[in-house]
Amino acid sequence: MIKIPISASKKYDVIMHQGILNMAGFYIKESLSLKDDPLTGKLKNKKICIVTDATVNQLYGQPEHKLYQSLKAYGFQVHKFVFRGGEETKSMDTIEEILDFLTSKGFTRTDLLLALGGGIVGDVTGFAASIYLRGIDFIQVPTTLLACVDSSVGGKTGVNLKAGKNLAGAFWQPRLVLFDPDVLATLSYDLLLDGIAETIKAGMIADKLILETIIRKRNLDDPEFLTTIASLAVEVKKKVVEEDEFDNGSRQLLNFGHTIAHGIEKCSNYKISHGHAVAIGMKIVAVASDRLGWTIEKSSEQLIEILERFKFPLDCPFSAWELAEAALADKKRRGDNITIVIPAAIGKCRLKTIPVAKLEQFIAYGVNN
Ligand code: GLY
Repeated sequence: MIKIPISASKKYDVIMHQGILNMAGFYIKESLSLKDDPLTGKLKNKKICIVTDATVNQLYGQPEHKLYQSLKAYGFQVHKFVFRGGEETKSMDTIEEILDFLTSKGFTRTDLLLALGGGIVGDVTGFAASIYLRGIDFIQVPTTLLACVDSSVGGKTGVNLKAGKNLAGAFWQPRLVLFDPDVLATLSYDLLLDGIAETIKAGMIADKLILETIIRKRNLDDPEFLTTIASLAVEVKKKVVEEDEFDNGSRQLLNFGHTIAHGIEKCSNYKISHGHAVAIGMKIVAVASDRLGWTIEKSSEQLIEILERFKFPLDCPFSAWELAEAALADKKRRGDNITIVIPAAIGKCRLKTIPVAKLEQFIAYGVNN
């Protein structure tokens, strides 16, 4: 078992262990120090609402599944809210539906939400938890590698607005993150790649060892290898989040490749997935930074080599102008400037603030190669 304690505005553990969904009830009860009613020897009136999407619901959300069973066995009153899933359901409408569901089931401030799914489920559930009755606790149970290494840790929650991704949200830390590597067995290669892209990002910004580990072994059907790289990536995230939980400084490092990636996702109507867009975004930024001489050591060749080994499609189907337009609607813009993350070398990134007017030119250096 791997346990990574996170010390932010809330303290919580990220626990990774094969088969942990069997024991979810136990770990939630223990982590939140929930006490049994001495008369019944069971939790008293503790409701938990599993929030999940239609796909994950079929796989892990059914009443006969071990997660559900474990919650019941430890005395939780289990409710479930299922939404369709997909980027277009990461919306205020879904939030309202969740809040209405919770009121209809009589959820109070001492009850809990449990996000069972990928990043969209985690972000939506976390945001609903952050505003329901001015904030209730929630648990993250990521079912993708991407959600495990990124969105389930660090407390960024939110939804998309018409103008762009994640434009409404809150910082709201979970009380526990439970990751069962067994869930990776049901992921497609492309979904695994989405997680690999974020893991490579973690390596690029702060830990060369992750990249070395990934290069040494590329076998994506080995849960032990995936758990190892996931835990290394979560360690990177832990460090960054503990230093700058509210994203005023160094946490922006986690956005390496993301400003452009969000533009790619938006321009493609979200047909290009987040991780695949991040791979292209990282490549564009690394190439542009190398060309402009902004790096200490050039990194783009090595980064491209790693990405190509996993067969990430790296050609960008959009122009620098389109990407800059889309990126500037992104919330990372601050006034007339935008902060981008550039590699100083492999395993070390830094922040660079450039005028908004120069973004298109910067992207063009990375796209036109
Ligand atoms: N996914 C970037 C962050 O958590 O800051």
